[in-house]
Amino acid sequence: MPAKVILGTQWGDEGKGKITDLTADEAEMVVRFQGGNNAGHTIVIDGKTFKLHLVPSGILRKDTTSVVGNGVVLDPAAFLKELDQLKEGNVEMGQLKISDRLHIIMPYHRTIDGLEEAAKGNLAAGTTKRGIGPCYSDKTARFGLRMCDLMDPEAFMHKLKAAYPLKAGYIKALGGDIEQTMDEIFEEYMALADRLRPYVCDVSVLINDALDQGKNVLFEGAQGTHLDIDHGVYPYGTSSSTVTGGCLIGTGIGPKRLDKVIGIVKAYTSRVGTGPFPTELFDSVGEHIADKGGEFGTTTGRRRRVGWLDLVMVEYAVRVNGLDSLVITKSDVLAGMDEIKIATHYTLDGKDIHHFPASMAQVAKCVPQYHTMAGWPDLKKEEWDAIASKGRDGLPAGLAAYITFIEANLKVPVEIVSYGPGREENIYL
Ligand code: IMP
Ligand code: MG
Repeated sequence: MPAKVILGTQWGDEGKGKITDLTADEAEMVVRFQGGNNAGHTIVIDGKTFKLHLVPSGILRKDTTSVVGNGVVLDPAAFLKELDQLKEGNVEMGQLKISDRLHIIMPYHRTIDGLEEAAKGNLAAGTTKRGIGPCYSDKTARFGLRMCDLMDPEAFMHKLKAAYPLKAGYIKALGGDIEQTMDEIFEEYMALADRLRPYVCDVSVLINDALDQGKNVLFEGAQGTHLDIDHGVYPYGTSSSTVTGGCLIGTGIGPKRLDKVIGIVKAYTSRVGTGPFPTELFDSVGEHIADKGGEFGTTTGRRRRVGWLDLVMVEYAVRVNGLDSLVITKSDVLAGMDEIKIATHYTLDGKDIHHFPASMAQVAKCVPQYHTMAGWPDLKKEEWDAIASKGRDGLPAGLAAYITFIEANLKVPVEIVSYGPGREENIYL
């Protein structure tokens, strides 16, 4: 299977980082195709925790090339800081390549992110304030500065001169102040440009060549399906295309290149940010899951909202991404509970709803309908490891029933059940 895509099926934080790192074992290339340093991937190797935001998860493997696609927005200072931290952590890093077509996050994008959020009132998404949305806005409005501009001082200044006065005026209108002069920005960015230069290339050529040579390429999604700009909980999602289609646009490959699309499903649901959340738990059960699952945002440190697994959400992800298989993560977090619920559909004004609605007003009114199941016992690590060696047949009855129920409902096979953050903590079904 030369070309695989790994995507989140919920609101991000499904555990993509770990599964990507695992799958990267057989990949010669790992590619990020959207989002920016709003993402947070936690990877644990030999008890050492790495938190990645922008650098692809393949970086932790020395024989893997990590590629940042054109669909990504890149904050040069944040990116280089992340690289420095990896170097300090004595990671044997693989090669790194960055698209010459990706858009650069500018200091004023971060300022605008905060001001726009404040101005939006209850329509604010609760962004990570990294300037992601404003950078994508400028990309679409054609005010953006791309990596190829950053590599060319004259082009960079030319475009900055056009954008700067407009941004300064806009920031002022929102009640803020642009923090740096145009010359200060220019100087800061030119210094960063020189450090990025060795990595910059046309990644479409690079990836297509790798695929032509039959190399294994892994495309790593960030955020999740329900944060997608088109398919997510608009306007409470993010500004990029987090779905399979975004992988094509964000890298410059054709659709027939992809061999397999894998959806990551957390055994329950979590959300960092605002907007309706049908299966959200507000009781001690929710608190227990959030605590046991360590549900705090990797990027912002915010406590995540949690709820039961919602198959209406996952069905949507199966459909819009064309998922071939599923990976269930954090099954250990639900362990030890007497009963576990799964939402199979909603009711809205007395009617059954089987497909996630477009209208957030409707989603807010949807009442989840649950299938209640027996849980599975809380096991020690050794007990989980013993189960892992047996595969599907070794699963505790409750967990086996949970997996079977998900597969029967979605008509997609589950291929891995993850039971901990470590690279090895997986049951292959
Ligand atoms: P932005 O991507 O910073 O513009 O934030 C938009 C929305 O997406 C907010 O609700 C964020 O909390 C959410 N979000 C962005 N990135 C992630 C992520 O990696 N995991 C989970 N939520 C995210
Ligand atoms: Mg995350």
